[in-house]
Amino acid sequence: MSIQTPKERSKVTISTIKSMKSIEPIVMITAYDALFAKIFDESVDIILVGDSLNMSFMGKNDTLSANMEIMIYHTKAVCSGAKSALIVLDMPFGSYTNEDIALKNAVDVYRKTDAHAVKIEGGKERANIIKRLCENSIAVMGHIGLMPQFVRSEGGYRVKGKDTQSVNSLIEDALAIEKAGAFAIVVEGVKSEAAKAITKAVKIPTIGIGAGVHTDGQVLVWSDAFGFFEDFKPKFVKEYMSGAKLIREALFKYASEVKKREFPDREHTY
Ligand code: KIV
Repeated sequence: MSIQTPKERSKVTISTIKSMKSIEPIVMITAYDALFAKIFDESVDIILVGDSLNMSFMGKNDTLSANMEIMIYHTKAVCSGAKSALIVLDMPFGSYTNEDIALKNAVDVYRKTDAHAVKIEGGKERANIIKRLCENSIAVMGHIGLMPQFVRSEGGYRVKGKDTQSVNSLIEDALAIEKAGAFAIVVEGVKSEAAKAITKAVKIPTIGIGAGVHTDGQVLVWSDAFGFFEDFKPKFVKEYMSGAKLIREALFKYASEVKKREFPDREHTY
């Protein structure tokens, strides 16, 4: 276990992440602001500015209405807070509909933020886009399996890799993305054995979410992991704290003390 104290931490680079495959599990979490990014930076390898912010931060039902302006705004905030972790901006729905649009938007990410890489949802059908970005010196993380940006066209959130055909198709996706130049792949909502086969098939690290223990790393959405998002709880989410409950208790205490004129007391008064 090599979680380092903040002072000891060295900058995580694309090469660091690639070198961790099969050696040390990669820890990735989402963040959307500087405050949390600064805390997470102490013990994670990658911070993803996920378009999941559209659900947990903006309160929408899916990720589809996130746009480049929103993603760049939140990435700038995360970059202000995190100094060691590798920062990845999640390219939002509609921002990579063809190679030229993807390149224009990804170049904007590098110009306007300090993010180290972008993430793109899609398998073999988007390998050409990943290739074009990589040829233009933009680091790309792939994302296969359950892809939240395609939830409407696919008719819902469905676990993948349940039969041989599906597993083979996922492996083809992973290999196509690797060949296109991606440095890592998020594998979401995939049966554990399928994720194991994908991880074995590629030389770049796989980072799982709802994909079992055999991937090279794990990612969770922070508001799920810490019990702040209460609308629904997928099976794969482990709550490491009851965030919403703790906030409610603290808020109730603050509100009661204000009502009773117990706050501010002498200690907190000039
Ligand atoms: O948007 C997001 O947070 C993601 C993770 C679930 C991987 O894409």
